[in-house]
Amino acid sequence: MREKAAWIPMASRRILSRHLLRKAPVNAIQIIREEHRGLAAVLHGMLYLVRQIRERGIAPDNDVFGAMIYYVDAFPERLHHPKEDLYLFRPLRLRHPEAGPLLDRLEAEHHAGAERIRTLEQAYARYTQGGDREFDAFAAAVNDYVNFYREHMRQEETEVLPLAERYLTPDDWAVVDAAFAGHTMPLFGAEQDAQFKELFHRIVRLAPPPIGLGSAAVPKGPATPSKS
Ligand SMILES: [Fe+2]
Ligand SMILES: [Fe+2]
Repeated sequence: MREKAAWIPMASRRILSRHLLRKAPVNAIQIIREEHRGLAAVLHGMLYLVRQIRERGIAPDNDVFGAMIYYVDAFPERLHHPKEDLYLFRPLRLRHPEAGPLLDRLEAEHHAGAERIRTLEQAYARYTQGGDREFDAFAAAVNDYVNFYREHMRQEETEVLPLAERYLTPDDWAVVDAAFAGHTMPLFGAEQDAQFKELFHRIVRLAPPPIGLGSAAVPKGPATPSKS
């Protein structure tokens, strides 16, 4: 007989069982895909802003680009990755040990993400201070980060989620769904989730069309950092 969700941390079980008694299950897979879509939208926005610099000489708004970097740094690190590691990868390792190497690689990428963000931040800081001569390195750093993160999400959606659907038990899913809905640990609670949703909406409000609702950017003069 299969064990019953023994992978769930003891400290979380009481809160979780109360939640399971009173709330309808929330679909973790849907939440993961939605969180990926939010991240993908911000990554797309970063590429768009870089293209605006390259093709039209439009310098990015510091507020917009800074908020984008903060979002792709803080949201996965504080909410998305810990939930995946603890509540999706962990039970999948137990139910399907053959997934170990894949999950090891994806977990290592979670930990490497912070370092990659620092590289991106540094490239952006050098570009804002150094202008044109730093643009290529900055654009390459954005491309590297976007490609890395898109590939990471692709593997989760095309490899991990199908394995989870196949091997996790209904009991496992009850726990995973509750955890992703933010009812298991305060760390993953609704307050944090709401803060990141607000940040996402702020990016949308600030970013120029067509990626956001902010005022259309106007090409700036030669003193502004731009790609020649
Ligand atoms: Fe991940
Ligand atoms: Fe993910």
